[in-house]
Amino acid sequence: MSSTGQWHFAAKADDVDDDEPTLVRAGERQIALCRFMDSFYAIDNICSHEYACFTDGFVENGEIECPLHQARFCIQTGRALSAPAEIDVDTFEVKREGDSLYVKV
Ligand code: FES
Repeated sequence: MSSTGQWHFAAKADDVDDDEPTLVRAGERQIALCRFMDSFYAIDNICSHEYACFTDGFVENGEIECPLHQARFCIQTGRALSAPAEIDVDTFEVKREGDSLYVKV
């Protein structure tokens, strides 16, 4: 996770589901905004294995599953947890102000 960057409005907290990532566009980046146990996490939306969007997958138990070959990644760290993915993906800082969520990119 980078400590530099700019905050971008991402979504209203009530619009982010527990099991379905929300697509956020910040500059050139596509980010999957995830909710788990009432906390919010932002992860690069593109899988590190081949080209697939996590926003077409789902979130379960703090992990996001790629829709193409079902590799799982930790939404807090971006760590690749299962094959066929071996490379971690980027994560981004999230802050909440009232009902608004922002990601730092
Ligand atoms: S493209 Fe994500 S696991 Fe293959």
